Amino acid sequence: MEVSATAADLKHRISGLRSRGRRIAFVPTMGNLHAGHLRLMERAREHADAVVASIYVNPLQFGAGEDFAAYPRTLEADLAQLRRADVDLLFLPSDAEVYPRGQAAQTFVEVPVLSDILCGASRPGHFRGVTTVVNRLFNLVTPDVALFGKKDYQQWLLIRMMVGDLGMPVQIVGVETERAADGLALSSRNGYLSEAERRVAPQLFATLSALKDQMEEQGAVPAEAEARANATLTGHGFRPDYISIRRRADLAVPGPRDAELVVLAAAWLGRARLLDNVELNRPAPG
Ligand code: PAF
Repeated sequence: MEVSATAADLKHRISGLRSRGRRIAFVPTMGNLHAGHLRLMERAREHADAVVASIYVNPLQFGAGEDFAAYPRTLEADLAQLRRADVDLLFLPSDAEVYPRGQAAQTFVEVPVLSDILCGASRPGHFRGVTTVVNRLFNLVTPDVALFGKKDYQQWLLIRMMVGDLGMPVQIVGVETERAADGLALSSRNGYLSEAERRVAPQLFATLSALKDQMEEQGAVPAEAEARANATLTGHGFRPDYISIRRRADLAVPGPRDAELVVLAAAWLGRARLLDNVELNRPAPG
């Protein structure tokens, strides 16, 4: 695996891949890699001849008082995993390479409306930081295709919208959430859970799956299903941030005829803010 630490070196290596006719797939990460990331790398390989990954803990997407300083940084283990996954090129930039004029001066990219709801409402500025860094990384890597995990459903949708709105020549692929055997969605932040909390954590997926059944099979009223899920999670010791049934296409509150839905949740368990979601199809009204 080749490693580039600067934008100039990356550009040079990308030109080399292009001159050899390689189609490039890109997986941006913040490191602390787990099986979910490795699945993204595997899927990337199916879409292209060369797989490029990046590791960069992006300060712009962390708010004041969030876990930027504590975010797990495990470079040696990450490098070993990327080599085993047969990644061709890793971009491992410093802040100065990503934001040469400084973070405060950086031109930003923001998708309106969708950036301000759900996780965006609880974490103001977070999605602006995500779309800004992904835009910058796309301009440096110039991938044909880029892959994102659907655990971060809102992020995946925002990036698709950014790419569509700006006419960026990159295909965005969403990859299904990788789960532990007990259903917990894999996430770097699971490392913040104590042993006791880790045993409770799968209840998030279990509760969302039960809500899906209520909606699909029992014709539940969305607001009532959300309230039940909220009470269930609170009973298990979570502090739900939101549990919300939304329209899959744009995460708007669904109208009565919208059938393609997704339930999204963010809930604190101890010091971990866990995210998960489950897609569901509401039967057509009779
Ligand atoms: O999902 C992540 O790890 C990050 O938000 C991303 C897409 C790498 C941007 O920093």
